[in-house]
Formats: sequence, C-alpha cells, structure tokens
Amino acid sequence: MGSLKNEEEMEPIGGESSRDAVLYVNGVRRVLPDGLAHLTLLEYLRDIGLTGTKLGCGEGGCGACTVMVSHYNEVLKKCVHYAVNACLAPLYSVEGMHIITVEGVGSRKSGLHPVQESLARSHGSQCGFCTPGFIMSMYALLRSSELPPTEEQIEECLAGNLCRCTGYRPIIDAFQVFAKTDDAFYTNTSSSDLQSGEFLCPSTGKPCSCKSKGLNGAETCKKSTANEHNYEPVSYSEVDGSTYTDKELIFPPELLLRKLTPLYLNGFGGLKWFRPLKIQHLLELKAKFPDAKLVVGNTEVGIEMRLKRIQYKVLISVAHVPELNVLHVKDDGLEIGAAVRLSELLQMFRKVINERAAHETSSCKAFIEQIKWFAGTQIKNVACVGGNICTASPISDLNPLWMAAGAKFQIIDCKGNIRTIMAENFFLGYRKVDLTSGEILLSIFLPWTRPFEYVKEFKQAHRRDDDIAIVNAGMRVFLEEKGEDLVVSDSLIVYGGVAPLSLSAVKTKEFIIGKNWDQELLQGALKFLEIDIFLKEDAPGGMVEFRKSFNT
Ligand SMILES: Cc1cc2nc3c(=O)[nH]c(=O)nc-3n(C[C@H](O)[C@H](O)[C@H](O)COP(=O)(O)OP(=O)(O)OC[C@H]3O[C@@H](n4cnc5c(N)ncnc54)[C@H](O)[C@@H]3O)c2cc1C
Ligand code: FES
Ligand code: FES
Repeated sequence: MGSLKNEEEMEPIGGESSRDAVLYVNGVRRVLPDGLAHLTLLEYLRDIGLTGTKLGCGEGGCGACTVMVSHYNEVLKKCVHYAVNACLAPLYSVEGMHIITVEGVGSRKSGLHPVQESLARSHGSQCGFCTPGFIMSMYALLRSSELPPTEEQIEECLAGNLCRCTGYRPIIDAFQVFAKTDDAFYTNTSSSDLQSGEFLCPSTGKPCSCKSKGLNGAETCKKSTANEHNYEPVSYSEVDGSTYTDKELIFPPELLLRKLTPLYLNGFGGLKWFRPLKIQHLLELKAKFPDAKLVVGNTEVGIEMRLKRIQYKVLISVAHVPELNVLHVKDDGLEIGAAVRLSELLQMFRKVINERAAHETSSCKAFIEQIKWFAGTQIKNVACVGGNICTASPISDLNPLWMAAGAKFQIIDCKGNIRTIMAENFFLGYRKVDLTSGEILLSIFLPWTRPFEYVKEFKQAHRRDDDIAIVNAGMRVFLEEKGEDLVVSDSLIVYGGVAPLSLSAVKTKEFIIGKNWDQELLQGALKFLEIDIFLKEDAPGGMVEFRKSFNT
C-alpha cells in the first residue's frame, strides 16, 4: 500500500495530512507504494508491462520515452495535457496525475488512432523504436490544442524527437494532415478537382507542384504512370479515423475531485522525497535539510543523479508551491515565480507582446526567440526558470538574457526574509551563485523596456533544434536622443559559452556609453569585445577560432 510511510515525521515539518499516493495510467488507477523515490516514470511504466515507451538516451535528448501527462490545474481551472520525457520524470512527480502512454492511444486490435494511422500510411516508421515517442508528442499537441495546430506548431512539437532511420520528411508529412488549413485539398478533394497543373504527390498524398518528372522525363506523379498497377498513392482524406473504435481516454473523475496533498516518500539508499504545497512548509524543510535539492523538471538533477552518479539524500519537489508559480503582469514589468515552466513562460511572453506597447516588450521578444531554440518541447514542458538560473551553467541560454535585460532576482531564506539582487551580480563562478544553503530563489522580476531600449538574443549551436549552445549572448542598449543624434545611455552585453560563467563585456560597455549609435561605434565595440571575451588557445570546449568569430 502506498502512502506517507512515516506521517509522524511529516507532522512537525508541514503539519499537513496525507493519504495514498495515486497515479492513473491509461485510465487505470494505481496506488504507488512507498520506497520508489529513486525510480523514473519510465522505469515504472516498463516494470508494469507498458513497454511501448522506450528507453533511448535516458537523458532527455531523443524523445523515445515521450508520454502525455494530464492534471487538473487549480489556477486555470481546467485539465492541462503535455508531453514529457518519462526517462527524466521522477515517478512521484506525477502523483495525482493521469499518464497516457502509446498503449492508451490506439492499437491494431482496437483500431489505430488517426495519428498512428497517418504515420503508418505515410511510411513514417521503419525500425519503429522512435515511433511511440513521435506518436505521443503529436497526440499531446492535439489534446492540448483548442484549435487545430499550425504547421509550425507541429514541427516545433517534434523538435525533441529523434529518428535514426526513417528521415523526418515522411513523419512531418504524416502529421501535417492535422494542421489548421482551409485548403480543400485536405478534405475530400480528389485529384480530378485539383486545378490544372497540380498533382497529388504519391509520397505525401499532398498536392505538389513538382510534376515529379522521372529521370526519363515521364511524369511520375500521375496515376497514369507505369506504377499505376502496383502503387496507389495515399490521400490524407483516407485518414478519417473511422477504424478507431476506442474512445479517447478521459481525465479520471477521481483526480478532478481529489486535491493534491503534501507528500513524504522514500527511495533506495535512504533517499527522501518531499512535496510541500506551501512556501512555509518548503522553508521549514530547507531549514531541516540545508543540502536538499529542489526539483521541478529534474532535467538537471536527474542527469546529475543518473548519469554523473551524484547521490542526493533529500529531494524537495517544489512544482506545486503557489508562491513559486506566480506569473504577474505588473505596471513596471513581469513577476515570474522560480518554478514557472519554460512553456508557461513562453505563453505569457506571447500574450504580453500582443497586449502591451511594442517598446515595452523588447526583452520578451528576445526571450521568445531564445526559448524557441531551447531544448525540445518535452523539456520545456517541465523545466523551470529557477532551475536554469540556479544551475548557473556557463552555456545557459537564458542567463545572459536575464542579466542583459536588467532582471532582478528575489531570494527568500528559511526565516522568510526576502532580499533582491540584480541578475548581473548573481552568478559568481562555475555553477556557483549567490545563494546560501538556507536560501532559495523565489521569483524573477523582468522590467519592461523603455522607448529606444532594445534587447537582443543570440545562440549558435551545432544544429538548430534541440542542441546546447557553442556561444550565446544577451545584449541590451538604451539610446537617448541628443539633437539629431542617438547616443548610448546604458547597455549590457553578456556572453555565454566563453568562460566558466555568463560573462559581462565590461570594457565594451564602458566604451559605447556616451557614444553616437553608428558604424564607428560598432567597429570600436568589436575591438573591445576581443579584450572582454578572451578565449585562450586551449579553452575548454575547443573550436576557439570558430567561437571567437561570433564575438567579433
Ligand atoms: C535534453 C536537454 C536539453 C537541454 N537544453 C538546454 C538548452 O538548450 N539551453 C539551456 O540553457 N539549458 C538546457 N538544458 C538544461 C535544463 O533544461 C535547464 O537548466 C532547466 O531549466 C532546469 O530546470 P529544471 O526544472 O529541470 O531543474 P531541476 O533539475 O529540477 O533543478 C535544477 C537545479 O536548480 C535548483 N533549483 C531549482 N529551483 C530552485 C529554486 N527555486 N531555488 C534554488 N534552487 C533551485 C535545484 O536544486 C537544482 O540544483 C537542457 C537539458 C536537457 C536534459
Ligand atoms: S530516452 Fe531519450 S529522451 Fe528519454
Ligand atoms: S524508425 Fe527507426 S529510429 Fe525512427
């Protein structure tokens, strides 16, 4: 029977009651026993026989382990659905939630779900190892979208899924059938309805303009080719889901009525797992266990524990502490709780750029661009802002931007005292920040930009999607009108990937302040940047000349 193993121990800390730890998997209720805090969701799913979810990389990079998590969001007052990498999700982090795996979507026995059918018809699977992950990413997008997604959203949602044999074109083509479109070609239009000169491409079933000439000049797209007798082009209109006889799994009513409770559970090797629901309880736990690791997405801690074999004794899941989840639009800027997930932050940025004056949201636009190239969707759906900041990775994509944008961090200690520090002064060294063991990051304040104040992001990686940066940067410049000229009144330029910490280009800043905003300033600034951002021949990470070329 799963429950809080030792309620007496919980009482003096949180004073909150508890009960069975429960999880639903594909509509089936499961009580989670105590003692499994060391397990990932993936290990649990495969242990109970759901082996459709695969273990590929085990570090959030391939998407083979993708499942959909649903839970009731108390603030939004609705169920939210999103894709996660089960290989990084701690089992107890999904307590009180509903997990849908590929087995819960559709099967050959009960009929393939349209997402599965479309992939099969488009030849989007070969060895099939990656296939459940692709299916779940697409399925989660459809379940979470109120309107049909755009083609761009479909491509974005697959950025965290890798396929090593099929190639991405058939996979993307298979899923584009679900994209928002008013194009009649995607309904019941037959090729005879197409305008003259247009064809249905046999490989995709879509209208295509290539007229696909074979090597000998013959048109190969037309049904009248020699292939006629042995090849029937697949039309997307055939993927109508009529073979799918299962009902879509609903959100379990028990979970709608059931309020989350604080948790205290255990795992192998004396590992303790806490889930406080109030800031007071969290601070008491932090006072009792100063070395405890706070966990939200586990995309850093999980890698440290599993791949780097670092042993943490106490993990505190802070994903449900309300004070750490605030997202407030204020007169002077945006207040962002440290546990806010990157996908939520992205949505908020998109909302404010539509609602506020254009000059106020230059930082928000830079963050939107940077988050676009930050990991895959499954990671962004769980990874929090505070986790990225406090890890203080020298290649963090967001820390140079927080610094450049003039963000302030609010820090709270075990006694509830709050202090504020400029992001610029928070990073002290390699993965070292200005936090004592009794302190945690509470929230981030991002000020609106002023007229003539501009923030810009930069990221260079080996590949565009889902890759860590070789060099990245955040830059801000505030210009003032002086007569006919625009003069730099304030600025901050911060580079990542060039030093043990996100590095501020101090001399460059000093040089440009007070100067006219023109070509001459740019040429001068580049000279100072070479001094500020100095990479030795043997700098860690290599590729010194290549990396330098981005700074100058
Ligand atoms: C596949 C993959 C791709 C990635 N791609 C990128 C990328 O493109 N760019 C990039 O910058 N990063 C990337 N990362 C890094 C990672 O996703 C981020 O650092 C993430 O934001 C961490 O958030 P989390 O919630 O998962 O942190 P967790 O692992 O849960 O916690 C991380 C650390 O932060 C501490 N912490 C968390 N909250 C607080 C708080 N409130 N106060 C004090 N300490 C706190 C924890 O104690 C822990 O030490 C990637 C990671 C993976 C696995
Ligand atoms: S196994 Fe590769 S992302 Fe989980
Ligand atoms: S079909 Fe083999 S990895 Fe994708």
